[in-house]
This record gives sequence, C-alpha cells and structure tokens, in this order.
Amino acid sequence: MKAVKVIGFILLGLLGLVGATGTYVKVALPDTGPAPQIKIERTAERIKRGDYLANHVSVCMDCHSTKDESLYGRPVVGGFGAGGEKFDQQQGLPGKFYASNITPYKLTSWTDGELFRALTTG
Ligand code: HEC
Repeated sequence: MKAVKVIGFILLGLLGLVGATGTYVKVALPDTGPAPQIKIERTAERIKRGDYLANHVSVCMDCHSTKDESLYGRPVVGGFGAGGEKFDQQQGLPGKFYASNITPYKLTSWTDGELFRALTTG
C-alpha cells in the first residue's frame, strides 16, 4: 500500500511539473503566432542578393559554419552553413546554444513562411 502511495505522489508531482512547464511556455515565452503562408520565388537575382547578405552583411555563415579555431576560425571543408558555433555562460547566456545547421539539407522541410518567421522574430 505504501508503494502505491509513493507512486501516486510521483505521478502527481510529474503532472504538476508538466502543468508548470506548459504554463511557463504559454505565458512567459513570446508568442510569435503562426508562420505566414508565403511563397518566395527563387530567382537568380534573389539568390545572388541572399549570398551577399549571408556572407558579407549579416555574416550568417560566420556563426552557422563548423570552424577550425586552429586556422583562425576558417570553416572546415563541408562545414559551411552546417552549424557549430557555441554560445554559453562565458558570453553571459543562461545555457549552451549552438548555431544550427542552416543548409538546405537541414531546412528542406521548412516552409518559406517558417523561415521568414524565424528570421524576423527569432
Ligand atoms: C551571432 C551568431 C549568429 C548569426 C550572425 C546568425 N545566427 Fe542564426 N542562429 C544562431 C544560433 C546560436 C541559433 C540557435 C538558437 C537556438 O538554439 O535557440 C540560430 C538559429 C538560426 C535558425 C533556426 C534553425 C533551427 O534549426 O532552429 C535559422 C533559420 C538561422 N539561425 C538563420 C540565420 C540567418 C539566415 C542568419 C543571417 C541573416 C543568421 N542565422 C545569423 C546564431 C547566429
């Protein structure tokens, strides 16, 4: 009987934890809303501009590439856009974050609207 009580308390605790996590996610985190239904036409001009923005203006590829620090942070072969840069407590962040893989291999299932939402709202 004691074991049933203990299991009951554990289940109750887990239920409370799930409820608290759900409330935190719903209340404390910003709600960016659904991704817009958009389709961006891939023209040669847009791809060229994106290349310019990603590599020279916003330096997306600087964070989002796997780099070799012994070569002054030069992207490793095959690591361009594949993610890897680490951000952690040393930069004053609460945890560890890694710049993700943003190659078409990883983002192939993302809609244009989902990409737009990620880039404009974080
Ligand atoms: C200062 C470093 C830095 C730069 C510059 C940067 N990012 Fe990121 N990006 C990150 C980090 C770190 C994450 C992961 C955040 C997380 O895990 O919550 C991320 C996440 C993303 C994601 C979400 C991927 C996923 O799988 O969830 C996309 C898409 C993205 N970045 C695209 C871009 C683009 C496009 C640019 C340039 C306009 C850019 N990033 C510039 C650091 C950077």
